Amino acid sequence: MNKILITGVNGQIGTELSQKLLAKVGPENIVGLDIRPALPPYAFPHETIDTTNKEAIRQVVEKYRIDTIFHLASLLSARGELNPDQTWDVNMGGLKSMLDIARGTGIKIFWPSSIAVFGPNSPKDNTPQNTILDPNTMYGITKRAGELLCQYYFDKFHVDVRSVRFPGIISHETEPGGGTTDYAVEIFYEAIRNKVYTSFVREETCLPMMYMEDAVRSAIEIMLAEKEQVKVRTSYNLAAVSFTVTEMVAEIRKHIPEFLCNYAPDFRQAIADAWPRVIDDSRARQDWNWQHEYDLSGITQDMIENLRQKLQMT
Ligand code: SER
Repeated sequence: MNKILITGVNGQIGTELSQKLLAKVGPENIVGLDIRPALPPYAFPHETIDTTNKEAIRQVVEKYRIDTIFHLASLLSARGELNPDQTWDVNMGGLKSMLDIARGTGIKIFWPSSIAVFGPNSPKDNTPQNTILDPNTMYGITKRAGELLCQYYFDKFHVDVRSVRFPGIISHETEPGGGTTDYAVEIFYEAIRNKVYTSFVREETCLPMMYMEDAVRSAIEIMLAEKEQVKVRTSYNLAAVSFTVTEMVAEIRKHIPEFLCNYAPDFRQAIADAWPRVIDDSRARQDWNWQHEYDLSGITQDMIENLRQKLQMT
């Protein structure tokens, strides 16, 4: 990890991963890439390019002598259902561009997959690494197909691509855009701003979640693991905690007792219902020593502290 390219650098994960890597390798060793222009504080070079533009990205890779790519650019599950064609083009086209660019160069790639690879017939509890994978969203289909493409490029062309199936990611820096698990972030903003939130999934909805600190650390740790430790070349199940909306509400009320949550489920309920409740991530724990740190109470406390500052509502 000497010269790092981060695609989707303006997104929920990109903004925080870039800050963490900046502290590790310095601004001269990071390049950001996004379809949108750079965000302040402009700490490292930025290229405004669509990730499906393979030749433009190849030129960036050559110009900066990139040896590691964190390929985060993607459309998420809910937005994906509104734009299935674009989701296929961006998610599959972008990943294939990166894999093709890495062929024969020794470039290492991190690419996030998702709990969206599971579907209505996958086991909901302790969902194993290898099980029925029948995603029924375009986003989930691109993640599952992408996993197989990663395995193929590893087997056939020796591209060192590493991947984890991220659960819903909770963070305070940059809001997620267009995911089904977005309620688990929105709820904190609304609890602080208005003390009331209307959830687009039902109260008993339970999904695997992870705090951004843990998510960013997992991406860096799998990339730093020895090659022999990374034995799954589709994508690793990765987990931290699972909880229902009711459990989140109770935890938030410990800090904001007046907080109220209403429920108005929409099309995202069906997506959530097809995903697992609790994931078995023992392979990641065994192979490259994955461990999460934040549980629901740790996440809640940190989110409320940071968002009160950010929204100046102390
Ligand atoms: N957080 C993502 C979504 O909800 C899941 O990978 O789409």
